Amino acid sequence: MRVLHSITSMQKISKEFQRQGKIIGFVPTMGYFHQGHLSLMLQARKDTDKVVVSIFVNPIQFGPKEDFKRYPRDLKRDLKMVKDIGVDIVFCPKEEEMYPEGYKTYVRVKELEDRLCGRFRPGHFQGVCTVVLKLFNIVMPHIAYFGQKDAQQAIIIKRMVKDLNIPVKIKVMPIVRESDGLAMSSRNTYLNKKEREDAVILYRGLQLAKELVKSGINDSAYIIERVKKFILPKITKIDYIEIVDYKNLLPLKKIEKEGLLALAVWIGKTRLIDNIILRNKKNI
Ligand code: PAJ
Repeated sequence: MRVLHSITSMQKISKEFQRQGKIIGFVPTMGYFHQGHLSLMLQARKDTDKVVVSIFVNPIQFGPKEDFKRYPRDLKRDLKMVKDIGVDIVFCPKEEEMYPEGYKTYVRVKELEDRLCGRFRPGHFQGVCTVVLKLFNIVMPHIAYFGQKDAQQAIIIKRMVKDLNIPVKIKVMPIVRESDGLAMSSRNTYLNKKEREDAVILYRGLQLAKELVKSGINDSAYIIERVKKFILPKITKIDYIEIVDYKNLLPLKKIEKEGLLALAVWIGKTRLIDNIILRNKKNI
């Protein structure tokens, strides 16, 4: 496993892999790994010849009052965690090289960027798209792996790839959860013991929605209200709970076939997101 810091050295190696006819799998991350990240790498290992993982806490996807400074970083720990996974390259670019003085170019995916998390984190998806496109141009992967945990991010990246004819296949992998159901996240480290215990309510809320749909209820407003009531006692604030169309992220009044229930809530000072795809089996 090699650790690279410079953009030119990464591009050089990727070109060499391409010349050798190797299939490159790429997992972009912000580090502080957990099993969710590792699941993407393991899938890349299965599918491709060379696995590249990037670690870069991307400043331009954080708002001015968000947790960029606080975001957990521990390269030593991360490298230890992936050393037996079969990762070929860990690419950790420097902020000054990614965004040098005079940097001016940004990528936006209109409308999709404004929905769900976009309403509460203006500029966030522009930051994500910009860094992901830059990383694609540096790593030149054949397949890139994203997690369903960040459902809106995966949908937006797929749209960008299609719209800009980027020659990469996007694979979205299922949410990896702790044994009690909490979706794994680097931000879970912010939670104290009590908050961590309370956080399981999100998963239980999603399960409640699944049960309601299973019992024949398909009215989104009713399901959302029930989930809200159920989770409220354990959380501090709701940014949103929505049931949306999986393609355009617009609210669905009824779940005819399937809908994405996505939520973002605060527990103490920590913002957590989670989601579930609700399927109305009657109509599938
Ligand atoms: P980060 O939060 O580090 O996540 C890296 C990848 O891991 C993303 O595709 C994310 O969806 C996935 N992931 C996180 N938690 C997961 C879980 N519990 N189960 C499955 N997959 C999970 O997402 C980002 O970084 C950044 O926005 C990035 C795409 C790297 C751009 O900066």
